Amino acid sequence: MKLSSRLSAINALITQPYDVIWDCCCDHGLLGMAILKREIAKKVMFVDIVPQLMSELNYRLTRYASAQSGSDWQVLCKDVGSIALAENKKQLVIIAGVGGELLLALIQQIIANHSQQVLAKISFIVCPVHHSYSLREGLDELNLGLISEQIIVENKRFYEVLQISFASTIKITATGSAMWDLSNRDHSNYLNKLLQHYTRMAQQSPQRFEKVINDYKLLLNG
Ligand SMILES: C[S@@+](CC[C@H](N)C(=O)[O-])C[C@H]1O[C@@H](n2cnc3c(N)ncnc32)[C@H](O)[C@@H]1O
Repeated sequence: MKLSSRLSAINALITQPYDVIWDCCCDHGLLGMAILKREIAKKVMFVDIVPQLMSELNYRLTRYASAQSGSDWQVLCKDVGSIALAENKKQLVIIAGVGGELLLALIQQIIANHSQQVLAKISFIVCPVHHSYSLREGLDELNLGLISEQIIVENKRFYEVLQISFASTIKITATGSAMWDLSNRDHSNYLNKLLQHYTRMAQQSPQRFEKVINDYKLLLNG
């Protein structure tokens, strides 16, 4: 099945081999299956919390994947916050398609459950549905650094894709530092949409959201 432009953009960020790539919150596993076909990881882990989805995916991979890929794979039905990262392996953890607050909570749990030594070899690709400002604030508080960031438009919706790791010393800013090109119509539409959204939110909670609005407005000054 063809990947959406959002999942294709995530897939395209994987340019080097890994020991393990985790497709977390994988749903039907489309992204992980595309990664499996590329044989760019020794093992692809598929994780989702919904048992039926995971048993269907397990069935599908058992029937088709072994013939199509030399890479190993495993399906886990569990909370992504409780995954166990292996020691001494170069690993990429992808979490996409869930809300920014949940995404941050999952990363906080993964970090709390692993040693510095394990975490030093991990990188993440994250793509939240909404709430990227607070997600970014939280990622910065965890001392994660930026590798790359981009804006993706799919079905008139806007997404931010961030590639991050503890090895990077580039600060993750709340509004984004490397992804904006306001001469691009999609980007200016996205910024307008964010400003409209937070202006509505500021009517309920001015103290919190006026700062968010001002931070986004600073982008207009270049
Ligand atoms: C919209 S799908 C995202 C699919 C794919 N990652 C994407 O970006 O298109 C969200 C998935 O997250 C899963 N999910 C939500 N919370 C989870 C958790 N704590 N642990 C594991 N999976 C979770 C849901 O079951 C659902 O299948």
